[in-house]
Formats: sequence, structure tokens, C-alpha cells
Amino acid sequence: MKGLFLTLEGIDGAGKSSHIDALEALFKARGRQVTRTREPGGTPIAETLRTMVLAQPMDALTESLLVFAARRDHLVQVIEPALARGDVVLCDRFTDATFAYQGGGRGFDTALLSTLEQWVQGQAGGALLQPDITLWFDLPPELAAERLAGARLPDKFESQPVEFFRRVAAGYAQRAATAPRFVRIDASQSRDQVWQQIEAALAGRGL
Ligand code: TYD
Repeated sequence: MKGLFLTLEGIDGAGKSSHIDALEALFKARGRQVTRTREPGGTPIAETLRTMVLAQPMDALTESLLVFAARRDHLVQVIEPALARGDVVLCDRFTDATFAYQGGGRGFDTALLSTLEQWVQGQAGGALLQPDITLWFDLPPELAAERLAGARLPDKFESQPVEFFRRVAAGYAQRAATAPRFVRIDASQSRDQVWQQIEAALAGRGL
């Protein structure tokens, strides 16, 4: 069986994480092996880098290098072997988050991010390893901020002002416009309706 690489993206508070359990159950019910993981993270080295990136202020180049270093380890240790086994890989965030947060949110040079993406995700023959499908939970930043308010102690990004998330959201929209693997999910709807959109998106792609 061919592996399937599915990522979930969106600004903080968009509600993507609450659907991962259901996605895992759906694919397992169809007899698929599921590897569930997240970025930054997914390996001991990448989780250490995650703690640094989410806890400490740093310049945008340092931040970009650390998330791509984490991604490289994660790809080599977890994602590529899982896809080679034929697993469904459910990954909470991937490179689109770097374009949205470091590129959009922090205004970092996206051409340089594309170079790092080539280095980290480049494969034999020159193609990039990319997700097969990306569920993009799109929600107005003001609504996301309301949902996040008081939920838990915010990390470095969650404590950013709403203007930061406007830029992150614009970063996602830009990236989505260039890649047909993106499926926009209207995350302002109820949890049940959001799940229905996810099921319809998968069915629409024969999954
Ligand atoms: P998140 O995925 O929201 O996890 P949790 O639900 O546990 O808080 O946290 C990851 C944060 O890291 C999120 O604010 C986005 C940020 N991030 C980047 O800035 N760049 C990246 O490349 C990735 C993968 C995440």
C-alpha cells in the first residue's frame, strides 16, 4: 500500500488538533497503519528544538534554521520510513507553518525559506517531498484569539498580538494559492460541521 502524507495547518486557535483523534480512528477503521506526529517535533532532537523555539526569543533566521533542522531529523527518522512502510502519516503542522509563521508572521525572506525547503525536502531527481493533502483550518484571527483566551498559558507565538496572526493567516493563504494539495476548511463552523468538511475533502480526493 502506498503511504499517505496528510498535514493539518492553521493559525493557533483554529481547532485543528481536536480533529486528529478522529482522523486516526477513520484511517485505522479502514485497516491502515497510522503514524501520528507533529512539528516542530516528532523525534527527541526535534522535540528539544521545539522547546527552544517555543520558549525563547530569537531572530527569525535562527528560528527558521532550527525548525528546518528539526524537520530534517523528523523526516529522516520518522516520516520517510513511515511512508515507505505504507503508513498514513498524520502530521500536526509542517513546512507550510514555516512559510506562514516565519515568512508571514515574522516577515522573513520566503526565497530563503524555499532554499531551506529544497535542502531539507529535496529528493533524488530533484522533486520535493511534500504532503499529499493539507487540511488548512482557516479562521479569522480575531475569532481564534477569542478561542485561545484563557485556554492555557500561551507560548511564544500564542501570546503574539492579533496583527501577527493576520500576517500568519495571509502567509497560509498565499501558500494555499500555489499548491492544489491544500483544502480550505472553514474553521468558524461548529466542530461537527468542521468534521463533515474534512470527510467531504477526503472523499473528494478518493481517500
Ligand atoms: P502548535 O502546533 O499550535 O501546538 P500546540 O497545539 O501544542 O500549541 O504549536 C506549534 C507552534 O509553533 C505554533 O505556534 C506554530 C509554530 N511553528 C512555527 O512557527 N514554525 C514552524 O515551522 C512550525 C512547524 C510551527
